[in-house]
Amino acid sequence: EIFSSSDSAIAKLGAETAALILRNDAKGQPTVLGLATGNTPILFYQELIRLHEEHGLSFANVITFNLDEYAGLPPEHPESYWKFMHTHLFDHIDIKEENIHIPSGTVAEEDIAAHCAEYEQAIIDAGGIDQQILGIGRTGHIGFNEPGSPKDSVTRAIQLDAITREDAAPAFGGIDQVPTAAITMGCGTILSARRLVLMAWGEKKAEIVRQAVQGPVCDQVSASFLQEHDNAVFYLDEAAASAL
Ligand code: GLP
Repeated sequence: EIFSSSDSAIAKLGAETAALILRNDAKGQPTVLGLATGNTPILFYQELIRLHEEHGLSFANVITFNLDEYAGLPPEHPESYWKFMHTHLFDHIDIKEENIHIPSGTVAEEDIAAHCAEYEQAIIDAGGIDQQILGIGRTGHIGFNEPGSPKDSVTRAIQLDAITREDAAPAFGGIDQVPTAAITMGCGTILSARRLVLMAWGEKKAEIVRQAVQGPVCDQVSASFLQEHDNAVFYLDEAAASAL
């Protein structure tokens, strides 16, 4: 779906998300949201905060699962995704801390496999993800599923692609400061969500969006797997859609 601006896309996604939460609240069921980091979803989180503050939308019955976290970063690190999510969303809404799930960047090497298995199990125990938000990296990754990530991959540790680390370098103050690995939900984990919304804004995303939407479905561009999901949408502004 192509929007005249990211603002109009966010207005729609915000309204859809509020409707989902209200529908589940009315049924006495929790809403399970899959969340993403990066610049792309910041506007969406601002819209959720606005809906909470101005319209009383409650997140008391919302459970969240984040896609990924950098390996080696403690929660209080300024570039951790834990910090990002609290700064941009969680500190401003009435979500319960125990309903927030973000992979840990600081589990010991030998405990990573068990931590990832627990993460997968927690998603299942919550009833699966109702709606997963996604951005897209320059390598075509969703979460940190770098090229070569199989369609049925699950939550695991992954080495970051050189391009991904380069893109993160300014925020970390140099490439040497960027972690070399991360823990990410797998492609299979993401594809098991009942609805997927991939957002992309700006001309810099146009070429990789084209590959994801119109290119072959392949593990070199993990976002291309969305083509095979029966409830996946791309929310694009005109610049991000300009190569289609
Ligand atoms: C990181 C995140 C992805 C995100 C991507 C794009 O790699 N792990 O989830 O989609 O960055 O970031 P941005 O939205 O800043 O372009």
